[in-house]
Amino acid sequence: MDKLDDYRLRLGGRDYVPIMVGGMGVDISTGDLALAAARLGGIGHISDAMLPTVADRLHRTGFVARKLKRYKANVESTDKSSVHFDLEDLASATRLLVESVMGRKRGDGAVFINCMEKLTMNNPSPTLGTRLRSAMDAGIDGITLSAGLHLGSFALIEDHPRFRDVMLGIIVSSARALKLFLKKSARTGRLPDYVVVEGPLAGGHLGFGMDWAEYDLGTIVGEVQALLRAEGLDIPIIPAGGIFSGDDAVAMMRAGAAAVQVATRFTISRECGLPDDVKQAYLDAREEDIVVNGISPTGYPMRMLRQSPAIGSGIRPNCEAYGYLLDREGHCAYIDAWEAAKAVAGDGPIAIHDKTCLCSHMRRYKVWTCGQMAWRLKETTRRAADGAWILPTAEEVFDAYRHGREAGATPVRRCASDVALAAGDVA
Ligand SMILES: Cc1cc2nc3c(=O)[nH]c(=O)nc-3n(C[C@H](O)[C@H](O)[C@H](O)COP(=O)(O)O)c2cc1C
Repeated sequence: MDKLDDYRLRLGGRDYVPIMVGGMGVDISTGDLALAAARLGGIGHISDAMLPTVADRLHRTGFVARKLKRYKANVESTDKSSVHFDLEDLASATRLLVESVMGRKRGDGAVFINCMEKLTMNNPSPTLGTRLRSAMDAGIDGITLSAGLHLGSFALIEDHPRFRDVMLGIIVSSARALKLFLKKSARTGRLPDYVVVEGPLAGGHLGFGMDWAEYDLGTIVGEVQALLRAEGLDIPIIPAGGIFSGDDAVAMMRAGAAAVQVATRFTISRECGLPDDVKQAYLDAREEDIVVNGISPTGYPMRMLRQSPAIGSGIRPNCEAYGYLLDREGHCAYIDAWEAAKAVAGDGPIAIHDKTCLCSHMRRYKVWTCGQMAWRLKETTRRAADGAWILPTAEEVFDAYRHGREAGATPVRRCASDVALAAGDVA
């Protein structure tokens, strides 16, 4: 039986252990997590979601306070069209954070940054351009474009001196989306260096509708392979979503993948940014706790634990401080939901179930997003004498994928026949 470590991902003339740890905002895939993957010869991602907010926390800067001060007079208004990011501040925050991670990089792997198009920030192209360009200025090894079609993203950076040498990839959930991206980016004379194909079992936002369960990662990978063959293109394909074990990963490699992108297994690692009590909640999760809902104001379905504290919260929109999801008209679906709920509640408490203030809640780790396989995390983890789960290091999780060896507990029983079999054994 081969193992994942028998394969290598060839990217930009270099070889990597074919494990990409996916970007997880907001600072869930921390610098430490990305650096661990790079040290072990793979590729780790940081995320640029709410980056000024993250920079403030890590580097004691004052980007959020400065923005809030500038727009304080607007706080009571639900018209947020005047609330903008200062592009200089955005560039400084990005450079600070990326430089601080890249300066600590060791080993043969790489650190990439995940950039979501859906963070429209009330000024989509200039803010995205600033984020991408400053990450390149600060020496990032690669950029993974996500959460959107990114039809104009290459054009935003084509005059940057690093445009040809930085690794650039895109996450798609269909061959159609990739075809569109290739067509629109062709003018820049630059192909993506890799394509992450994210299936319906992934964590975070999904590139599917609420009919996500009708799709299958293997089928989409096959369709993307067929598209690239038809176009005469040789671009590494990296499947993502529900790849839980080394064996799962090897099956993808045998089917022609160049590497795998994984995330959920790393959410409980010590280096992951989630607070420890949230990691314990992920480990306690049962299959029925994992839901896909429409509470994200982005309009994309999102997978999370149904116990997420953000669900039902009626917090006041705080776009003067954050405002990452404001569209080009300064609008966010949560503001509408809040206004409607407030009109009904008057001065009473507000509970909103159909939308959430993603900025406020992601920042405070109140949206417990995870992949569909999160309920299996307990299979790979042991409990201490007091019942708490013992959190693995990122290296232990990485090695479990790489060598196909699990350090964890005995498998939990998964289906009725397993239980019946076990009962029979005892009898
Ligand atoms: C907690 C969490 C947060 C995530 N956040 C993002 C994100 O900010 N941007 C993004 O493109 N993908 C995000 N993802 C998706 C992952 O990068 C990855 O592609 C996917 O979850 C892989 O599937 P797996 O979790 O089943 O291994 C997130 C996933 C998780 C589990």
